[in-house]
Amino acid sequence: PYLKDIFGLTDMEAHIRQLYSLKQVVIVPGDSEQSESTLKELGRAGAASLRKYVGAEDVIAVAGGTTMAEVAEGLNVSSQWKGNVFVPARGGLGERVELQANTVASIMAKKTGSSYRLLHVPDHLGEEAYHTLMQDSNIQEIIQFIRKSRIVLHGIGDAMTMARRRKTDENAMRQLAKAGSLAEAFGYYFDRDGQVVHNIPTVGLRLEDIMKTEVVIGVAGGRSKGEAIAAVLKFGHEDVLVTDEAAAMEIIRHS
Ligand code: G3H
Repeated sequence: PYLKDIFGLTDMEAHIRQLYSLKQVVIVPGDSEQSESTLKELGRAGAASLRKYVGAEDVIAVAGGTTMAEVAEGLNVSSQWKGNVFVPARGGLGERVELQANTVASIMAKKTGSSYRLLHVPDHLGEEAYHTLMQDSNIQEIIQFIRKSRIVLHGIGDAMTMARRRKTDENAMRQLAKAGSLAEAFGYYFDRDGQVVHNIPTVGLRLEDIMKTEVVIGVAGGRSKGEAIAAVLKFGHEDVLVTDEAAAMEIIRHS
């Protein structure tokens, strides 16, 4: 029988929560890859989760992607958001403007009536450019500010899908595949065991910052992402997962 027949959604939430020692798991019914309304529901659930954990005067680092854009849509103005600042988790990762973390952070700030600060660094940074940029005092200041984030909100993608979407060159694609890349989150690529195998060179939150962040919220759904989500959960630094039923079944299957 299908897992769906064995578990109700609430049981699945508890099961995944226990498997990965998470604070909260939310599963919306359906498959957000197949249904626009499920995707909207996932966005609303992500927004509700962020609302649950946000405090006063928090710095909230957000990643990019279509799911994060849906979470932004699910947010509303309330006095609760006063004093909060949205920032991008990292600099450019090769996404189109609508999906960039800077864009998502500014929309979230606008939707909630809070403020934002942006990180302007070009995509596809070479080593030398990276070091030059890191010496700039304005960049240093905003990076230090981003590293104060108490909450990180991010999507999770299938590694090869994300690499293609970001127009990664053929050579790098082969390297990613050879390293066993399965999942991508906040510009880091993970293998099936949740080990980091590649990192897009840009600035902002480093892996060690994410590991230390008080509340890390992952929002990702769709059957094809299930295994990738499981890989990021195995990395072991998520606190909250917001997903859909189709992905949840795959997460359990790959756990
Ligand atoms: O890091 C993961 C990706 O940004 C997820 O993107 O929400 O468009 O699938 P997506």
